[in-house]
Amino acid sequence: MNYLAPSILAADFCELGAQLDLIEQSGVQCLHVDVMDGMFVPSISFGMPVLACVRKRTKLFLDVHMMVERPERYVDEFMRLGADSITIHVEACDCIYKTLERIRSLGGKRGIAINPETPIEHVFPYLENVDMVLVMTVHPGFGGQSYIPECLDKIRSLRSEIHKKGLSVDVEIDGGVRLENLKENLDAGANVIVTGSAVFQGDMAHNIKEFQKIMNAGQ
Ligand code: DX5
Ligand code: ZN
Repeated sequence: MNYLAPSILAADFCELGAQLDLIEQSGVQCLHVDVMDGMFVPSISFGMPVLACVRKRTKLFLDVHMMVERPERYVDEFMRLGADSITIHVEACDCIYKTLERIRSLGGKRGIAINPETPIEHVFPYLENVDMVLVMTVHPGFGGQSYIPECLDKIRSLRSEIHKKGLSVDVEIDGGVRLENLKENLDAGANVIVTGSAVFQGDMAHNIKEFQKIMNAGQ
């Protein structure tokens, strides 16, 4: 099953409520929430108060992407505030198994994310312990960057490893995804598609429809 996950990093925060309503009404099920700490990535985005407001406003599945050093410090609080899944970076955490297990025990879906320069094999030891792997297709920290084409091979190897192990793990991609490169990413094995600028810039309802057309073809 393919899922579109618009990233609120690209939202107009003065219009966030209305934009969330529009996303939900468009038949989207998932919302990507980018938390940045100014340490793991250079930028700072938003945190607990925004997550709490978003949770109150929408029933969308909240997919929290922690671009945060030592994310284990925040798992309990983010789950309490209404996250549905928490994705931690393989590069940012020294106690990955324990943190993933904590997310699961609190009722969350578990994700592990990997940066473009980290070899994909680094997530292989965790495949049995996650619901999703997030392959960063830009350097994390900012929206609106260009897709790094070398990531396509990482997606293919990851999908093939998941298949070889007989697992059912979602493959999420994040960064620089547009209508023009969507199909090749789906073909490579991605099934959860994060998109910020390509959905929020211009006519959102129209953009979402165009993404859905490609994502639903052949499903
Ligand atoms: C980047 C974030 C992304 C970002 C994607 O660090 O993790 O989720 O919002 O934005 P676009 O789709 O504009 O590249
Ligand atoms: Zn993200």
